[in-house]
Amino acid sequence: MTVKLLRGRLLSFKRAPQGLSDQESYSYETDGGLLIEGGKIIAAGSYADVKAKAPDDAEEIDHRPHLIMPGFIDTHLHFPQMQVIASYAANLLEWLNTYTFPEECRFVETAHAQKIATHFYDELIRHGTTTAVAYCSVHKTSADAFFAEAMKRGMCMVGGKVMMDRNAPQGLLDTPEMGYDETRAVIAEWHGKGRNHVAITPRFAITSTPQQMEAAAALAREFPDLHIQTHLSENHDEIRYTCELYPEAIDYTDIYARYGLLGRKTLFGHCIHLSDREADAMSEAGSIAVHCPTSNLFLGSGLFPLKALSRREKPVRIGVATDIGGGSSYSMLRTMDEAYKIQQLLGERLNPLDSYYHMTLGNAGALSLADSIGTLETGTDADIVVLNAAATPAMALKMDVVKTLVEELFLLQTMGDDRSIVETYVAGNAMKAVL
Ligand code: GUN
Ligand code: ZN
Repeated sequence: MTVKLLRGRLLSFKRAPQGLSDQESYSYETDGGLLIEGGKIIAAGSYADVKAKAPDDAEEIDHRPHLIMPGFIDTHLHFPQMQVIASYAANLLEWLNTYTFPEECRFVETAHAQKIATHFYDELIRHGTTTAVAYCSVHKTSADAFFAEAMKRGMCMVGGKVMMDRNAPQGLLDTPEMGYDETRAVIAEWHGKGRNHVAITPRFAITSTPQQMEAAAALAREFPDLHIQTHLSENHDEIRYTCELYPEAIDYTDIYARYGLLGRKTLFGHCIHLSDREADAMSEAGSIAVHCPTSNLFLGSGLFPLKALSRREKPVRIGVATDIGGGSSYSMLRTMDEAYKIQQLLGERLNPLDSYYHMTLGNAGALSLADSIGTLETGTDADIVVLNAAATPAMALKMDVVKTLVEELFLLQTMGDDRSIVETYVAGNAMKAVL
């Protein structure tokens, strides 16, 4: 088996940064080396030290002067919504009913699901994303296509067949029994195969009857280690309608809590308008609020209080994500640029160290996967992104006056996109080069 030795500037977080001057929160090697074998990082450090450990026939790849980081992680997006991006709608519910639901109906066709799956992974790789957490459609065919393609590429992916049994077109509805049985079938066929993780995926309370929520609860009890993903508190009309559908619940979060869906492996997309009580409940359960800034701006859903939720006495765990196709970019760099601007509008500061922490180790921690991804630590999976902060003429011009790592990171986030992704390694294999 070939051993690879990557050379470049290495940046990897060890924990959440406490501020811009918190150099203890990350490791940075200006002339670093990464040794990769069998899909894992087997040594990391200064180039000289790592070179000394490398076998003579190691394949050496020189990425200087670029930055080498753990691959980006996207904790919420919709695989069947690639062709929904850029749909002109007034708000979430109009966007879902007019464009998104009809488009997802097409995923009943295996050939269509497979075609889009190919494009989906191509885009992730093009944008430096090595792990993502995706909603498939209601059709089992879509989950099959999603996980089969992940295995082909050797990627660590989380995904689920959506459960939805009301308030959508007929072609997009299952039943409580079907949702349960097909989710079980997807788990049996795909969970733990390759690097696949299956998530229990009730779309949101509006599209699930109480009977289907019971079925999701049963799955959560039977498979307590699985991720759960759903949507929460995205839009004022959505919140009002949801609470009308579940009048016994004290608020939107309480609906999910009543069905045992609030836990450390639950990822709640959006969480923009949580009350203090709901944030306390999320915090106590250790659930994740997943911030999707390009989507929140595009759909006009609201300004997610990322900083305020993180510094509460009872902090809420945070993930960051694109939310394709409500979101408008596959790029985690573009995503964090918009996250930054949202905090600006709220009078808060989101510093560049925070941003890159969230895209890598932070999101890995949000998925309870920080022992294998989101880091360049020895023994972890060799999912890696190589970044060029001078990828365009305008970026190169700005880069001429950049003096510090933090300034470089901020430039990459502010002006960067897929053009800044020099290479994406998945389990040690260079994937962008062969697209
Ligand atoms: N809420 C329920 N489904 C969706 C979806 O597909 N996208 C977004 N942004 N919100 C949702
Ligand atoms: Zn979503």
